[in-house]
Amino acid sequence: MAKTKSIHGEWSSRFAYILAATGSAVGLGNIWKFPYITGENGGGAFVLVYLGCVLAVGIPIMIAETMMGRRGRQSPINTLSTLSTEASVNKNWHYLGWMGVIAGVLILSYYSVIAGWASAYVFKAIFGGFSSDAMQVKASFDELIASPLQLIFWHTAFMIATMSVVMRGVRGGLEKAVQLLMPSLFVLLIILVGYAMTTGEAYFQGLSFLFSPDFSEIDSDAVLTAMGHAFFTLGLGMGAIMVYGSYLPSGVSIAKTTLFIAGADTIVALLAGIAIFPLVFANGLEPGSGPGLIFQTLPIAFGNMTGGWLFGVLFFVLLVFAALTSSISLVEPVVAWMVENRGFTRVKASVISGIAIWVIGVGVALSFNIWSEFKIFDKTIFNFLDDLTAKVMLPVGGFCIAIFAGWMMQQKHVKDELDMPEQQYQIWKFLVSYVAPAAVFLVFLHVLGIF
Ligand code: PHE
Repeated sequence: MAKTKSIHGEWSSRFAYILAATGSAVGLGNIWKFPYITGENGGGAFVLVYLGCVLAVGIPIMIAETMMGRRGRQSPINTLSTLSTEASVNKNWHYLGWMGVIAGVLILSYYSVIAGWASAYVFKAIFGGFSSDAMQVKASFDELIASPLQLIFWHTAFMIATMSVVMRGVRGGLEKAVQLLMPSLFVLLIILVGYAMTTGEAYFQGLSFLFSPDFSEIDSDAVLTAMGHAFFTLGLGMGAIMVYGSYLPSGVSIAKTTLFIAGADTIVALLAGIAIFPLVFANGLEPGSGPGLIFQTLPIAFGNMTGGWLFGVLFFVLLVFAALTSSISLVEPVVAWMVENRGFTRVKASVISGIAIWVIGVGVALSFNIWSEFKIFDKTIFNFLDDLTAKVMLPVGGFCIAIFAGWMMQQKHVKDELDMPEQQYQIWKFLVSYVAPAAVFLVFLHVLGIF
């Protein structure tokens, strides 16, 4: 019989869950990563592939992952053990939980370094204000990432912030952190879009870059990047949404909440793109300039606009908080597991996992400067971890989740948990059993040159 409650507690309401799960989804992936990978992959066609993946692959898998979490009511590792027993399938499925836990640790190690950049920009915004000159803005970014000490300092600060929220547990920590921040971030993005509209010609160039697809820009790696990003931005395939689902009170509709969360996540990413690309074109910058893109463009807007000082400070503060509400979901699976299986207190589990992640993150920070020549499979530590997680671990994890929900679990258990109208259930069931796994599989075959 399925458990009715997690030992770690529960969200206080449906609304609290929506905030937390939206907090997990909306983060650096939307505002930092989406624009720069769109820039690197030629714009419109990439955006379309990404949107297609969100719809056909992301949403069905998100429903599946949340459903499995709520049915198992434990960390992803133990949830998968429980569910495979319930479904009388091979116990090895719990390794899927392990892969997720490891992916979360690896993602957070670089996520924290980038969140550190955003934190450094809060202070740049407060004390220096931003220059309206593109060259100076770029020089200031280059100076930051060339400094191991600054990067490690901000990475450390961000990890401490993350772990101190996680220590406080489901209601005390996770919930409180998100309530005000998400809506405010949204408002600030709208203000930035408003500024982008003042760039005249460049505004339309930006829109056309984002929304008129040119499929000659797309190769198999771009398709994999877009699909991997659909997983990354929704926070899928590694147990984050599974563990959040395990704290979801019974009776809340998983399908409806998922549609809301995925919709909000997509809108935030598109708004970020609409705010950023006009600035790229207005200032003669390169869309494909890589991970520094938002740090080299948005400050120009703040440097130019009236009230720019205040908006600049607010924007980077909110970006750091958006990152924080995602980072707590990245460690929650491993922390929950340590509490369940090792008998650690939340505090001890948080400290131990925090230190391990911090150490890897130091390597990531150095890969932007003194270790930039150190390569794993021809990639810097940052690029390697980013590719390994977003292009391999999350899609593989998502694929397995789809197979588990679509083929392994007993239908009556799935239906019980999802509790949705029959027709909608059938659509979901088709997407999760056939469309999503086939899409992931074909993209992999394509990348490997087999298809
Ligand atoms: N979705 C988050 C973002 O877009 C990152 C994340 C990935 C969170 C995986 C949880 C799990 O920034």
